[in-house]
Amino acid sequence: MPPTRDSSGTLRLSGADLSEVSGGTGTPLYAYDIGAMAQGARALQAAFEGQKHLVAYALKANTAGAVIRTFAAEGCGGDVVSGAELRVALACGIAPEHIVYNGVAKTDDEIDLAMSSGARGIGALLVESVEEIARVEARAQAVGRKARIGIRVNPSLDLAGKTHAHIATGHDRAKFGVPRDDATAAAGLIEKSAHLDLVGVSAHVGSHFNTVAPYVESARVVFGIVRSLRDAGRARSLEFVDTGGGFAVDYAGDASPPLPTPADFVRSVRAAQREHGIDDLALYVEPGRCLVAAHGVLVASVIQSKVTATGRWLMIDAGMNDLLRPALYQARHRIVPLRGDAPEAAISWRVVGPVCESSDDFGEHLLPRDPPGQVAILDAGAYGYSMASNYNGRQLPAEVFLRDSRVVGHTVRVSPEAWAQARARAGT
Ligand code: LLP
Repeated sequence: MPPTRDSSGTLRLSGADLSEVSGGTGTPLYAYDIGAMAQGARALQAAFEGQKHLVAYALKANTAGAVIRTFAAEGCGGDVVSGAELRVALACGIAPEHIVYNGVAKTDDEIDLAMSSGARGIGALLVESVEEIARVEARAQAVGRKARIGIRVNPSLDLAGKTHAHIATGHDRAKFGVPRDDATAAAGLIEKSAHLDLVGVSAHVGSHFNTVAPYVESARVVFGIVRSLRDAGRARSLEFVDTGGGFAVDYAGDASPPLPTPADFVRSVRAAQREHGIDDLALYVEPGRCLVAAHGVLVASVIQSKVTATGRWLMIDAGMNDLLRPALYQARHRIVPLRGDAPEAAISWRVVGPVCESSDDFGEHLLPRDPPGQVAILDAGAYGYSMASNYNGRQLPAEVFLRDSRVVGHTVRVSPEAWAQARARAGT
């Protein structure tokens, strides 16, 4: 659940008072409700209504062990994009055969790791270019394994205006995926190799779409390719189609009409899959954001205010290094006080962080005239901690994990002293 405010004005996440969960680590602090994440995964699983499927959680949204173990316990697989993410997924109990690996530039070591995890290697290495097929083939031969391959197709759709340009991946000029017109030839290369098995066809059209239409359009490209391969008597080894992630989250909290749910996305692509007569294949999806964003907040302390003739700023101790989305995508996250929300006494403050960049700016927010001691930045559970950096000598934020009103775990911050010592040693 997103945080709620009780009758005394206290902001609670998973029932716990957010100002009391830091365990002494202080702020900035990411707090997550992992019980609510589990519920979201269950609701999404239910939308498949018994159809063979895999919810391959996109680890890049949030790589915390407690989060991944939660999804693994709900029967989810994982979508990884690096050898390191693959290792985390395996360490958190996701079965190798339930992992798909996207990535335009997998190294030989990463390919070897994927092929040698588990008895048959991971679920699928999703190749993103015709050139990659020969590289994987060479590694499979060297390692003495048959590689399980999926073709990630670039559906070549015009997505202008449908999501932010930085997170649209399924258009002609994107580096991602095998161009749709080359997919059949790519399948031919895989099928004629003794070292490769073609097990899937996938696409990921982009992230944060708030209507199902582009997602279904992209899925139809995948389904059409599979249909025509089958009509030609080919692709008999296929096990799954994978329609990617990208389900939207209502960051403003007031979408009208409400945004489609993850289950709505799944129901729409299932219908398209049936229409293509390929619903014997398992349907994979790769959601990240929609499973974690709303169930995480970034708690920050107000350091000071600054009022001049031209503006009113609230300086908080969380910056763009902790939550990059506003600086990188002009994303807007709601910011609310931890205690005593009194909208009638609110005025507009420009909330900014301590980093020496003008883009370290979370935008204008209505907050009490008397600045609150602490605030929560909402919907920060996805692409928050996972995109955080040490820029400006700042430490990665702390994390706390909540379930059923209880703290079930913490990640502690690396101390500024340790960071300073490590950098001082650099190059020596
Ligand atoms: N599958 C693939 C191949 C992807 O590239 C992504 C996201 C996903 C699945 C998961 O997409 P989701 O369901 O989370 O939308 N940092 C950006 C988002 C970048 C997404 C990159 N790929 C943000 O903060 O908005």
